[in-house]
Amino acid sequence: MKSKALSLMLLSGCLTLVSCGDKSAKPVSEESVITNERKVETTSSTPSSTATPAADVPASERIDLVNKGKGPIKTLLLGDIDQAMAAKGQEVFKNMCTACHKTDKKFIGPAPKGILERRTPEWVMNMILNPENMIENDPLAQDLIKEFNGAPMANQNLTEEEARAVLEYFRTL
Ligand code: HEC
Repeated sequence: MKSKALSLMLLSGCLTLVSCGDKSAKPVSEESVITNERKVETTSSTPSSTATPAADVPASERIDLVNKGKGPIKTLLLGDIDQAMAAKGQEVFKNMCTACHKTDKKFIGPAPKGILERRTPEWVMNMILNPENMIENDPLAQDLIKEFNGAPMANQNLTEEEARAVLEYFRTL
């Protein structure tokens, strides 16, 4: 009696083992293959980031050609350089700005040379016309004043025409 019961137990144990072995022998499910393919797709279609991480670059060197700043200038399209206007702008710059700006190197404020490779024309105009409003409301202007140890860009009360002439001059630098 005893040995019969034992062999039954062994037999059922064997069956269990066989069925277990069957399960584990199943091939890799189709589902996981598809998931892998999808993963590859998402990785390759992710646009490679060309923007420099904001925190690593000083505000004066940061490139932001989207931000138009806060102020009266909403849209400004630039055509060919108007040399007469640029000459007027140079005069204004010499009288009103050179106390703090040198054209091609950092002084009390940043150098305007190549500024339109870093900023929109609207942003530059708004910064000249109303720096207080920019420092209060524009994140880039806020980072800029931090970089310049809290020295604020001075409002020189330029008319829009004068500011536009200075911008034209900046294009020639
Ligand atoms: C009293 C000093 C001072 C005067 C005068 C001054 N600025 Fe500035 N300017 C600064 C400082 C400091 C900054 C950077 C810190 C900040 O934005 O507050 C700056 C920033 C700027 C910026 C932004 C530069 C960048 O790289 O983003 C522009 C544009 C600018 N000034 C134009 C002018 C023009 C044009 C004039 C003359 C009409 C002028 N500034 C007069 C001190 C001055």
